Amino acid sequence: MPDVIAYGGDWNPEQWPEETWEQDVALMREAGVNRVSVGIFSWSMLEPVEGVFDFDWFDRVMDLLAANGIQANLATPTASPPPWFSDTYPEALPVDADGRRLYHGSRQGFCPSSPIYREKALRIAEQVATRYRDHPALALWHVHNEYGCHNARCYCDTSAAAFRAWLRARYASLDELNDAWGTAFWSQRYGDWAQILPPRATLSFPNPGQQLDFRRFSSDALVELYVAERDLLKTITPEVPATTNLMAGAHWDMDCWAFAAELDVVSTDHYLVGARAEPHIDLAFAADYARSLNGGRPWLLMEHSTSAVNWQPRNLAKAPGELRRNSLQHLARGADGIMFFQWRASRAGAEKWHSAMLPHAGTNTKIFREVAALGAELAGLSDVVGSTVKADVAILLDHSSVWAQDHPAQPTTDLDPVEEVKRWHAALWRAGVTCDLAHPEGDLTGYRLVLVPALYLVSEAGAANLEGFVRRGGVTLVGPYSGIVDDHDRVRLGGYPGAWRDLLGVTVEEFFPLDGPIRLDSGATGTVWSELAHATGAKVLDTYVTGEPAWTRNEWGDGAAHYLTTRLDDGALAGVVTAVCAEAGVEPAAGAGPGVEVVRRSHADGRSFLFAINHTEADAVVTTRAGDQLTVPARDARIIPD
Ligand code: GAL
Repeated sequence: MPDVIAYGGDWNPEQWPEETWEQDVALMREAGVNRVSVGIFSWSMLEPVEGVFDFDWFDRVMDLLAANGIQANLATPTASPPPWFSDTYPEALPVDADGRRLYHGSRQGFCPSSPIYREKALRIAEQVATRYRDHPALALWHVHNEYGCHNARCYCDTSAAAFRAWLRARYASLDELNDAWGTAFWSQRYGDWAQILPPRATLSFPNPGQQLDFRRFSSDALVELYVAERDLLKTITPEVPATTNLMAGAHWDMDCWAFAAELDVVSTDHYLVGARAEPHIDLAFAADYARSLNGGRPWLLMEHSTSAVNWQPRNLAKAPGELRRNSLQHLARGADGIMFFQWRASRAGAEKWHSAMLPHAGTNTKIFREVAALGAELAGLSDVVGSTVKADVAILLDHSSVWAQDHPAQPTTDLDPVEEVKRWHAALWRAGVTCDLAHPEGDLTGYRLVLVPALYLVSEAGAANLEGFVRRGGVTLVGPYSGIVDDHDRVRLGGYPGAWRDLLGVTVEEFFPLDGPIRLDSGATGTVWSELAHATGAKVLDTYVTGEPAWTRNEWGDGAAHYLTTRLDDGALAGVVTAVCAEAGVEPAAGAGPGVEVVRRSHADGRSFLFAINHTEADAVVTTRAGDQLTVPARDARIIPD
């Protein structure tokens, strides 16, 4: 990572006449831009005809950057194959579950398992890499763009064959697969591997095991494409780090943990979704997730927006100062780079109504002034680079579990695991506690408290991991409908939640999904979900007014395991989260309060920085470690060494 905060955005000079480029880089310098992502959507300009390459114009782009001291996240342009590609190789176009082939004219128009796509993608990547391997502007490989954003799952015959190959590597025999998928049900037993298809459109519910494995296969296929490009780049430029921009926390088709393991540095994109009442909490979730994916090390925010996006039904523009607060939130939570989509707002094309660093109206604008002010501010914060955020709490998150619960035949479809994970994260955020996200099989040492809001599926190793964490003195809080099925989405028998009956000291005999609120003895309410549970060792801390357990606590080894049998309302959840934090010895950040975000980044040598971000309309006062009172004006932020 650089010793300055990387600042800039996607630069797409091919959209503009060359006369504009000099002005672009001059304005970038004025705005404090030191990094841009280039070439992301340039394939059709770099290889206008199959096998015919035109790099002259791109040489001038790269040279201009180097001459102006601006570094490049140089993309392999493989996210958008040119029209000639699909014209020549129509069999490489993706097919949806209904059998519809999807055509070019947008982007990501390729089947992830297509051998011809891979061949052509590697060829253009190789051309780019060999041409710019020694270019002074090259800082980082930006491989592809948002893998799977549009083409995460392809159901074509090529994908079907690749899926079967993936299954053969996973299962020792067809019998094993039949057993894992429960194909005795509905007469689905396979007699030959060739009979297995992706879960194409069916008359009724698809087989859950088939659906889950197809989601895993589809994610793996994209990781494999990344790895193929990365390995090629490493043979040409072994010392240049490589990344791809994830969509952590926003898009759930790709297993971010699997992707992250292959990246030299995690980078991610984040956009505010207007409908959320407190979008800055969703931002904090995405940033915490990105940091966790990078093992706690600094990461890179590859894209966010200066103001409105263009892909929501109603695209809210950012209020004055919001761009800065959003950026500083990412910085506070461990980012060492703050970048936007995109540098100059497009005049034409599908994203012409998306905000940019340089708006259609030019430099005499709120956006450009804020962009330039932020550039200057970040330039003064280089001491932050390399520092890290330490969290005492982790929330478990696993894509396989989300995918399994996504099967439509559930006790209720109202219990949304992603929403629950974000709601519990929000409860911690409001309590002033910064947390990590962790894979259920990940290393939990170092945490005091582990929250499990929604982990319907857990493997044997994951189940044992949480049990061991508690036995060694940790505290956990487990949410309803967690620990229910095994790695193949088969029910763990003998009373729910089969993975953790002993740990929790509870057994559940039946689920009672709700169509309205249910009252608890404490006055709290639950919605969506309730259970008929029996405490088999746990102490009951709250009950439904009808007497059955709603919140339990079980001592286990040197620690304790709490369990909720309902989806508590936000207020009651906050109370329980605060209680388990206190029990685990987790302290909220001093001065953090409703709407006031306080996070600390520290270096190994002891230097540290206090980030205080005030999302409210009133001034806030935060106490520093030295005991001083720091006033953070309404809708403002302060960063101080502390
Ligand atoms: C991202 C994508 C960018 C741009 C942006 C708009 O998903 O990587 O290319 O489309 O969204 O918000």
